[in-house]
Amino acid sequence: MEKNLIVDSGLRGVTVASTRISHVDGDAGKLIYRGFLVGDLAGSATYEETVHLLLFEHLPDKIELADFKKRLSTHRRVSDELIKILELFPTDAQAMDVLQAATALMGAYDPDIRGVAKEDFLNMGLRLIAGMPTVVAAWHRIRSGRKPVPPDPDLDHGANFLYMLNGEIPAVDEARFFDVALLLHAEHSFNASTFSARQVASTRAHMYASISAAVGSLSGELHGGANVRVMEMLLEIASVDAVEAYVEKVLDQGKRIMGLGHAVYRVDDPRAHILAPMALEMGKRTGQPQWYEISKVLEEKGKAAFKARKNADIYVNVDFYSASLYYAMGIPVDLFTPVFAMARVAGWAAHVIEERFAGAAEKPMLYRPESQYVGNYCGPEECSYIPIDER
Ligand SMILES: CC(C)(COP(=O)(O)OP(=O)(O)OC[C@H]1O[C@@H](n2cnc3c(N)ncnc32)[C@H](O)[C@@H]1OP(=O)(O)O)[C@@H](O)C(=O)NCCC(=O)NCCS
Repeated sequence: MEKNLIVDSGLRGVTVASTRISHVDGDAGKLIYRGFLVGDLAGSATYEETVHLLLFEHLPDKIELADFKKRLSTHRRVSDELIKILELFPTDAQAMDVLQAATALMGAYDPDIRGVAKEDFLNMGLRLIAGMPTVVAAWHRIRSGRKPVPPDPDLDHGANFLYMLNGEIPAVDEARFFDVALLLHAEHSFNASTFSARQVASTRAHMYASISAAVGSLSGELHGGANVRVMEMLLEIASVDAVEAYVEKVLDQGKRIMGLGHAVYRVDDPRAHILAPMALEMGKRTGQPQWYEISKVLEEKGKAAFKARKNADIYVNVDFYSASLYYAMGIPVDLFTPVFAMARVAGWAAHVIEERFAGAAEKPMLYRPESQYVGNYCGPEECSYIPIDER
Protein backbone atom coordinates (compact mmCIF):
# COMPACT_ATOMS: atom_id res chain seq x y z
CA MET A 1 0.00 0.00 0.00
CA GLU A 2 1.36 3.44 -0.91
CA LYS A 3 1.96 5.54 2.18
CA ASN A 4 0.48 9.00 2.45
CA LEU A 5 3.46 10.78 4.02
CA ILE A 6 2.56 14.09 5.62
CA VAL A 7 5.24 14.77 8.17
CA ASP A 8 5.05 17.35 10.98
CA SER A 9 1.56 18.30 9.85
CA GLY A 10 -0.14 18.22 13.27
CA LEU A 11 -2.91 16.69 11.12
CA ARG A 12 -3.74 20.14 9.71
CA GLY A 13 -5.79 19.72 6.56
CA VAL A 14 -5.97 15.93 7.00
CA THR A 15 -9.52 14.57 7.01
CA VAL A 16 -9.69 11.62 9.41
CA ALA A 17 -13.44 10.84 9.50
CA SER A 18 -16.81 12.06 8.32
CA THR A 19 -19.33 13.57 10.74
CA ARG A 20 -22.92 14.74 10.73
CA ILE A 21 -22.59 16.65 13.99
CA SER A 22 -21.09 19.99 13.04
CA HIS A 23 -19.18 21.92 10.44
CA VAL A 24 -16.71 24.77 10.79
CA ASP A 25 -16.29 26.86 7.65
CA GLY A 26 -13.12 28.68 8.61
CA ASP A 27 -13.05 30.95 5.54
CA ALA A 28 -16.66 32.10 5.84
CA GLY A 29 -16.66 32.20 9.65
CA LYS A 30 -19.58 29.81 9.92
CA LEU A 31 -20.21 27.25 12.64
CA ILE A 32 -23.05 24.82 11.95
CA TYR A 33 -24.54 22.39 14.48
CA ARG A 34 -26.41 19.62 12.60
CA GLY A 35 -27.44 22.02 9.85
CA PHE A 36 -28.18 25.07 12.02
CA LEU A 37 -26.01 28.19 12.14
CA VAL A 38 -24.81 28.68 15.70
CA GLY A 39 -25.84 32.33 15.56
CA ASP A 40 -29.43 31.37 14.80
CA LEU A 41 -29.46 28.90 17.69
CA ALA A 42 -27.93 31.46 20.05
CA GLY A 43 -30.63 33.96 19.06
CA SER A 44 -33.53 31.76 20.14
CA ALA A 45 -32.68 28.27 21.36
CA THR A 46 -31.53 27.14 24.80
CA TYR A 47 -28.56 25.00 25.76
CA GLU A 48 -30.89 22.09 26.50
CA GLU A 49 -32.54 22.34 23.07
CA THR A 50 -29.08 22.42 21.53
CA VAL A 51 -27.93 19.37 23.47
CA HIS A 52 -31.03 17.54 22.25
CA LEU A 53 -30.17 18.56 18.69
CA LEU A 54 -26.59 17.33 19.05
CA LEU A 55 -27.48 14.00 20.65
CA PHE A 56 -30.78 13.12 18.95
CA GLU A 57 -30.16 14.78 15.58
CA HIS A 58 -33.23 17.04 15.61
CA LEU A 59 -34.58 20.03 17.50
CA PRO A 60 -37.11 18.83 20.08
CA ASP A 61 -40.79 19.76 20.00
CA LYS A 62 -42.34 21.08 23.23
CA ILE A 63 -43.12 17.65 24.67
CA GLU A 64 -39.73 16.22 23.74
CA LEU A 65 -37.99 19.22 25.28
CA ALA A 66 -39.96 18.97 28.52
CA ASP A 67 -39.15 15.23 28.75
CA PHE A 68 -35.52 15.84 27.93
CA LYS A 69 -35.13 18.59 30.53
CA LYS A 70 -36.67 16.33 33.13
CA ARG A 71 -34.39 13.47 32.13
CA LEU A 72 -31.33 15.71 32.38
CA SER A 73 -32.32 17.26 35.69
CA THR A 74 -32.82 13.84 37.32
CA HIS A 75 -29.15 13.13 36.58
CA ARG A 76 -27.81 16.31 38.19
CA ARG A 77 -27.11 14.75 41.56
CA VAL A 78 -23.77 12.95 41.65
CA SER A 79 -22.87 10.17 44.08
CA ASP A 80 -22.34 11.28 47.71
CA GLU A 81 -19.15 9.22 47.65
CA LEU A 82 -17.84 11.26 44.73
CA ILE A 83 -18.48 14.44 46.72
CA LYS A 84 -16.53 12.91 49.63
CA ILE A 85 -13.67 12.13 47.26
CA LEU A 86 -13.67 15.76 46.11
CA GLU A 87 -13.18 16.73 49.76
CA LEU A 88 -9.92 14.75 49.76
CA PHE A 89 -8.29 16.74 46.94
CA PRO A 90 -5.78 19.44 47.96
CA THR A 91 -7.66 22.75 47.94
CA ASP A 92 -5.04 24.25 45.63
CA ALA A 93 -5.35 21.46 43.06
CA GLN A 94 -5.88 22.72 39.51
CA ALA A 95 -9.56 22.82 38.67
CA MET A 96 -9.20 20.97 35.35
CA ASP A 97 -7.16 18.20 37.02
CA VAL A 98 -9.93 17.73 39.58
CA LEU A 99 -12.56 17.73 36.84
CA GLN A 100 -10.65 15.19 34.74
CA ALA A 101 -10.22 12.86 37.72
CA ALA A 102 -13.86 13.29 38.77
CA THR A 103 -15.06 12.67 35.21
CA ALA A 104 -13.25 9.33 35.09
CA LEU A 105 -14.53 8.47 38.59
CA MET A 106 -18.15 9.25 37.68
CA GLY A 107 -18.01 6.13 35.54
CA ALA A 108 -17.54 4.00 38.65
CA TYR A 109 -21.03 5.04 39.79
CA ASP A 110 -22.79 4.62 36.44
CA PRO A 111 -24.99 1.51 36.20
CA ASP A 112 -24.60 1.49 32.41
CA ILE A 113 -20.80 1.55 32.44
CA ARG A 114 -20.49 -1.97 31.00
CA GLY A 115 -23.24 -1.40 28.42
CA VAL A 116 -22.33 -1.49 24.77
CA ALA A 117 -25.67 -0.46 23.23
CA LYS A 118 -26.27 3.02 21.86
CA GLU A 119 -28.88 3.62 24.58
CA ASP A 120 -26.26 2.85 27.25
CA PHE A 121 -23.93 5.41 25.69
CA LEU A 122 -26.72 7.97 25.55
CA ASN A 123 -27.46 7.39 29.23
CA MET A 124 -23.79 7.78 30.12
CA GLY A 125 -23.60 10.95 28.03
CA LEU A 126 -26.65 12.43 29.76
CA ARG A 127 -25.25 11.63 33.20
CA LEU A 128 -22.03 13.41 32.28
CA ILE A 129 -23.77 16.45 30.78
CA ALA A 130 -26.01 16.75 33.84
CA GLY A 131 -23.39 15.79 36.44
CA MET A 132 -20.32 17.74 35.36
CA PRO A 133 -21.75 21.14 36.42
CA THR A 134 -22.52 19.64 39.83
CA VAL A 135 -18.93 18.47 40.18
CA VAL A 136 -17.48 21.85 39.13
CA ALA A 137 -19.72 23.82 41.50
CA ALA A 138 -19.27 21.36 44.38
CA TRP A 139 -15.49 21.39 44.00
CA HIS A 140 -15.41 25.19 44.12
CA ARG A 141 -17.52 25.31 47.26
CA ILE A 142 -15.53 22.55 48.97
CA ARG A 143 -12.18 24.23 48.25
CA SER A 144 -13.50 27.52 49.60
CA GLY A 145 -14.63 25.87 52.82
CA ARG A 146 -18.36 25.86 52.07
CA LYS A 147 -20.91 23.09 51.70
CA PRO A 148 -21.92 22.10 48.16
CA VAL A 149 -25.36 23.39 47.16
CA PRO A 150 -27.57 20.54 45.89
CA PRO A 151 -28.99 21.00 42.37
CA ASP A 152 -32.45 22.54 41.97
CA PRO A 153 -34.46 20.44 39.47
CA ASP A 154 -36.78 23.38 38.76
CA LEU A 155 -34.00 25.53 37.31
CA ASP A 156 -32.71 25.37 33.74
CA HIS A 157 -29.32 23.80 33.15
CA GLY A 158 -27.23 27.00 33.15
CA ALA A 159 -29.18 28.77 35.89
CA ASN A 160 -28.84 25.69 38.09
CA PHE A 161 -25.05 25.76 37.72
CA LEU A 162 -24.87 29.42 38.79
CA TYR A 163 -27.18 28.59 41.70
CA MET A 164 -25.01 25.65 42.82
CA LEU A 165 -21.89 27.83 42.50
CA ASN A 166 -23.12 30.94 44.31
CA GLY A 167 -26.05 29.66 46.40
CA GLU A 168 -28.32 32.28 44.79
CA ILE A 169 -30.71 31.99 41.89
CA PRO A 170 -29.29 34.18 39.10
CA ALA A 171 -31.22 37.06 37.51
CA VAL A 172 -33.12 36.06 34.37
CA ASP A 173 -30.82 37.98 31.98
CA GLU A 174 -27.66 36.69 33.59
CA ALA A 175 -28.96 33.13 33.34
CA ARG A 176 -29.78 33.69 29.66
CA PHE A 177 -26.30 35.10 28.91
CA PHE A 178 -24.74 32.10 30.58
CA ASP A 179 -27.04 29.71 28.73
CA VAL A 180 -26.03 31.30 25.40
CA ALA A 181 -22.35 31.01 26.34
CA LEU A 182 -22.84 27.29 27.08
CA LEU A 183 -24.67 26.85 23.77
CA LEU A 184 -21.82 28.55 21.88
CA HIS A 185 -19.26 26.25 23.49
CA ALA A 186 -21.27 23.05 23.05
CA GLU A 187 -19.64 21.77 19.88
CA HIS A 188 -16.85 22.56 17.42
CA SER A 189 -16.13 19.59 15.12
CA PHE A 190 -12.71 17.86 15.24
CA ASN A 191 -10.86 20.19 17.59
CA ALA A 192 -8.12 18.73 19.81
CA SER A 193 -10.34 17.61 22.71
CA THR A 194 -13.08 16.18 20.51
CA PHE A 195 -10.51 14.27 18.51
CA SER A 196 -9.09 12.98 21.82
CA ALA A 197 -12.55 11.75 22.81
CA ARG A 198 -13.13 10.09 19.42
CA GLN A 199 -9.67 8.60 19.34
CA VAL A 200 -10.23 6.93 22.73
CA ALA A 201 -13.76 5.85 21.72
CA SER A 202 -12.34 4.27 18.56
CA THR A 203 -10.56 1.73 20.78
CA ARG A 204 -14.03 0.76 22.13
CA ALA A 205 -13.26 2.31 25.48
CA HIS A 206 -16.39 3.57 27.28
CA MET A 207 -17.88 7.07 27.44
CA TYR A 208 -16.12 8.11 30.67
CA ALA A 209 -12.67 7.03 29.44
CA SER A 210 -13.26 9.01 26.25
CA ILE A 211 -14.59 12.15 27.92
CA SER A 212 -11.99 12.27 30.68
CA ALA A 213 -9.32 12.19 27.95
CA ALA A 214 -11.09 15.10 26.27
CA VAL A 215 -11.10 17.08 29.54
CA GLY A 216 -7.32 16.63 29.75
CA SER A 217 -6.93 17.80 26.17
CA LEU A 218 -9.11 20.86 26.73
CA SER A 219 -7.04 21.97 29.72
CA GLY A 220 -4.06 23.15 27.65
CA GLU A 221 -3.58 26.88 27.09
CA LEU A 222 -3.59 26.55 23.31
CA HIS A 223 -7.09 25.03 23.56
CA GLY A 224 -9.74 25.56 26.28
CA GLY A 225 -7.21 26.76 28.84
CA ALA A 226 -6.86 29.93 26.75
CA ASN A 227 -9.91 31.53 28.41
CA VAL A 228 -8.11 31.54 31.77
CA ARG A 229 -4.99 32.95 30.14
CA VAL A 230 -7.06 35.68 28.43
CA MET A 231 -8.42 36.83 31.79
CA GLU A 232 -4.97 36.73 33.41
CA MET A 233 -3.77 38.90 30.54
CA LEU A 234 -6.62 41.41 30.98
CA LEU A 235 -5.91 41.60 34.73
CA GLU A 236 -2.23 42.17 34.02
CA ILE A 237 -2.98 44.93 31.49
CA ALA A 238 -5.46 46.46 33.98
CA SER A 239 -6.26 49.61 31.97
CA VAL A 240 -7.05 50.63 28.41
CA ASP A 241 -4.02 52.95 28.39
CA ALA A 242 -1.66 50.04 28.98
CA VAL A 243 -2.87 47.92 26.06
CA GLU A 244 -0.53 49.17 23.36
CA ALA A 245 2.64 48.73 25.43
CA TYR A 246 1.48 45.26 26.47
CA VAL A 247 0.93 44.18 22.86
CA GLU A 248 4.38 45.41 21.80
CA LYS A 249 6.05 43.73 24.78
CA VAL A 250 4.38 40.37 24.20
CA LEU A 251 5.10 40.31 20.47
CA ASP A 252 8.68 41.53 21.00
CA GLN A 253 9.20 38.58 23.31
CA GLY A 254 7.83 36.20 20.65
CA LYS A 255 4.92 35.30 22.92
CA ARG A 256 1.24 35.00 22.01
CA ILE A 257 -1.72 37.25 22.68
CA MET A 258 -4.19 34.82 24.13
CA GLY A 259 -7.63 34.68 22.52
CA LEU A 260 -6.25 35.62 19.11
CA GLY A 261 -5.67 33.11 16.33
CA HIS A 262 -7.31 29.87 15.40
CA ALA A 263 -6.30 26.68 13.64
CA VAL A 264 -9.34 26.79 11.33
CA TYR A 265 -10.94 30.26 11.23
CA ARG A 266 -9.46 32.72 8.76
CA VAL A 267 -11.90 35.44 9.86
CA ASP A 268 -13.26 36.35 13.31
CA ASP A 269 -14.76 33.41 15.18
CA PRO A 270 -18.55 33.86 14.84
CA ARG A 271 -18.98 33.00 18.52
CA ALA A 272 -16.81 35.96 19.57
CA HIS A 273 -19.28 38.38 17.96
CA ILE A 274 -22.11 36.95 20.06
CA LEU A 275 -20.12 36.86 23.29
CA ALA A 276 -18.76 40.43 22.96
CA PRO A 277 -22.06 42.33 23.44
CA MET A 278 -22.97 40.08 26.37
CA ALA A 279 -19.58 40.84 27.97
CA LEU A 280 -20.23 44.55 27.46
CA GLU A 281 -23.70 44.35 28.97
CA MET A 282 -22.64 42.23 31.97
CA GLY A 283 -19.66 44.54 32.57
CA LYS A 284 -21.94 47.59 32.66
CA ARG A 285 -24.42 45.92 34.98
CA THR A 286 -21.82 44.79 37.46
CA GLY A 287 -19.93 48.10 37.44
CA GLN A 288 -16.79 46.69 35.86
CA PRO A 289 -16.90 47.64 32.17
CA GLN A 290 -13.11 47.88 31.99
CA TRP A 291 -12.54 44.20 31.14
CA TYR A 292 -14.66 44.44 28.02
CA GLU A 293 -13.14 47.82 27.15
CA ILE A 294 -9.58 46.50 27.50
CA SER A 295 -10.55 43.49 25.36
CA LYS A 296 -11.98 45.72 22.64
CA VAL A 297 -8.85 47.87 22.42
CA LEU A 298 -6.64 44.79 22.67
CA GLU A 299 -8.47 43.23 19.73
CA GLU A 300 -7.83 46.33 17.63
CA LYS A 301 -4.20 46.90 18.68
CA GLY A 302 -3.33 43.18 18.66
CA LYS A 303 -4.65 42.68 15.14
CA ALA A 304 -2.83 45.79 13.87
CA ALA A 305 0.49 44.91 15.52
CA PHE A 306 0.32 41.32 14.23
CA LYS A 307 -0.34 42.61 10.71
CA ALA A 308 2.55 45.08 10.94
CA ARG A 309 4.99 42.40 12.07
CA LYS A 310 3.93 39.33 10.12
CA ASN A 311 2.11 40.91 7.19
CA ALA A 312 -0.73 38.52 8.00
CA ASP A 313 -4.12 38.83 9.62
CA ILE A 314 -5.10 37.36 12.97
CA TYR A 315 -8.60 37.12 14.39
CA VAL A 316 -10.38 36.80 17.71
CA ASN A 317 -11.45 33.35 18.85
CA VAL A 318 -14.16 32.15 21.25
CA ASP A 319 -11.99 32.60 24.34
CA PHE A 320 -11.34 36.29 23.76
CA TYR A 321 -14.69 37.64 24.98
CA SER A 322 -15.91 34.71 27.06
CA ALA A 323 -13.26 35.68 29.62
CA SER A 324 -14.63 39.17 30.35
CA LEU A 325 -18.20 37.82 30.27
CA TYR A 326 -17.52 35.11 32.87
CA TYR A 327 -15.46 37.49 35.00
CA ALA A 328 -18.28 40.04 35.10
CA MET A 329 -20.60 37.20 36.14
CA GLY A 330 -18.35 36.54 39.13
CA ILE A 331 -17.20 33.09 37.97
CA PRO A 332 -13.74 32.39 39.46
CA VAL A 333 -11.07 32.68 36.76
CA ASP A 334 -9.71 29.16 37.11
CA LEU A 335 -13.21 27.77 36.56
CA PHE A 336 -13.48 29.29 33.08
CA THR A 337 -12.02 26.15 31.47
CA PRO A 338 -14.14 23.74 33.55
CA VAL A 339 -17.17 25.81 32.45
CA PHE A 340 -16.02 25.34 28.85
CA ALA A 341 -15.75 21.58 29.52
CA MET A 342 -19.22 21.28 31.06
CA ALA A 343 -20.63 22.95 27.90
CA ARG A 344 -18.50 20.99 25.42
CA VAL A 345 -19.30 17.64 27.03
CA ALA A 346 -22.49 17.65 24.92
CA GLY A 347 -20.46 17.74 21.70
CA TRP A 348 -17.98 15.19 23.02
CA ALA A 349 -20.78 12.78 23.94
CA ALA A 350 -22.37 13.17 20.48
CA HIS A 351 -18.99 12.44 18.87
CA VAL A 352 -18.30 9.39 21.03
CA ILE A 353 -21.71 8.02 20.04
CA GLU A 354 -21.08 8.77 16.37
CA GLU A 355 -17.66 7.17 16.59
CA ARG A 356 -19.12 4.00 18.09
CA PHE A 357 -22.46 3.70 16.34
CA ALA A 358 -22.26 5.40 12.92
CA GLY A 359 -23.21 3.15 10.01
CA ALA A 360 -20.52 0.66 9.00
CA ALA A 361 -19.61 2.52 5.81
CA GLU A 362 -19.01 5.77 7.68
CA LYS A 363 -17.48 4.45 10.85
CA PRO A 364 -13.75 4.96 10.93
CA MET A 365 -11.44 2.25 12.17
CA LEU A 366 -9.29 2.53 15.26
CA TYR A 367 -7.17 5.65 14.71
CA ARG A 368 -3.57 4.70 14.20
CA PRO A 369 -1.46 7.34 12.46
CA GLU A 370 2.09 6.75 11.33
CA SER A 371 5.17 8.63 12.40
CA GLN A 372 8.46 9.02 10.60
CA TYR A 373 11.35 7.53 12.58
CA VAL A 374 14.23 9.97 12.30
CA GLY A 375 16.94 7.87 13.96
CA ASN A 376 18.60 8.07 17.34
CA TYR A 377 21.96 8.76 18.96
CA CYS A 378 23.77 5.78 17.47
CA GLY A 379 22.61 6.10 13.90
CA PRO A 380 19.66 5.93 11.57
CA GLU A 381 18.40 2.43 12.48
CA GLU A 382 19.40 -0.15 15.10
CA CYS A 383 21.90 0.13 17.98
CA SER A 384 24.01 -2.76 19.32
CA TYR A 385 23.14 -3.52 22.92
CA ILE A 386 26.10 -2.80 25.24
CA PRO A 387 26.00 -4.53 28.66
CA ILE A 388 25.60 -1.98 31.46
CA ASP A 389 29.14 -2.55 32.90
CA GLU A 390 30.70 -1.73 29.54
CA ARG A 391 28.88 1.57 28.89
C1 LIG B 1 -4.85 28.79 18.38
C2 LIG B 1 -3.48 28.71 17.77
C3 LIG B 1 -2.68 27.58 18.44
C4 LIG B 1 -3.61 28.42 16.28
O1 LIG B 1 -2.40 28.54 15.75
P1 LIG B 1 -2.07 28.22 14.22
O2 LIG B 1 -3.07 28.81 13.32
O3 LIG B 1 -1.80 26.78 14.09
O4 LIG B 1 -0.79 28.99 14.00
P2 LIG B 1 0.64 28.71 14.60
O5 LIG B 1 0.62 28.28 16.01
O6 LIG B 1 1.35 27.83 13.63
O7 LIG B 1 1.18 30.19 14.48
C5 LIG B 1 1.39 30.82 13.21
C6 LIG B 1 2.16 32.11 13.46
O8 LIG B 1 1.28 33.04 14.07
C7 LIG B 1 1.75 33.40 15.36
N1 LIG B 1 0.61 33.44 16.24
C8 LIG B 1 -0.46 32.59 16.26
N2 LIG B 1 -1.32 32.96 17.23
C9 LIG B 1 -0.78 34.03 17.81
C10 LIG B 1 -1.19 34.86 18.88
N3 LIG B 1 -2.32 34.61 19.53
N4 LIG B 1 -0.40 35.89 19.23
C11 LIG B 1 0.73 36.13 18.58
N5 LIG B 1 1.19 35.39 17.58
C12 LIG B 1 0.44 34.36 17.19
C13 LIG B 1 2.71 32.30 15.76
O9 LIG B 1 3.68 32.76 16.68
C14 LIG B 1 3.30 31.91 14.44
O10 LIG B 1 4.28 32.84 14.09
P3 LIG B 1 5.60 32.35 13.27
O11 LIG B 1 5.08 31.77 12.00
O12 LIG B 1 6.39 33.61 13.09
O13 LIG B 1 6.26 31.34 14.14
C15 LIG B 1 -2.71 30.04 17.96
O14 LIG B 1 -3.33 31.07 17.23
C16 LIG B 1 -2.57 30.44 19.42
O15 LIG B 1 -1.67 29.96 20.11
N6 LIG B 1 -3.46 31.37 19.92
C17 LIG B 1 -3.41 31.77 21.29
C18 LIG B 1 -4.05 30.72 22.19
C19 LIG B 1 -5.55 30.70 22.02
O16 LIG B 1 -6.21 31.72 22.04
N7 LIG B 1 -6.07 29.49 21.91
C20 LIG B 1 -7.51 29.26 21.82
C21 LIG B 1 -7.85 28.74 20.46
S1 LIG B 1 -9.60 28.63 20.27
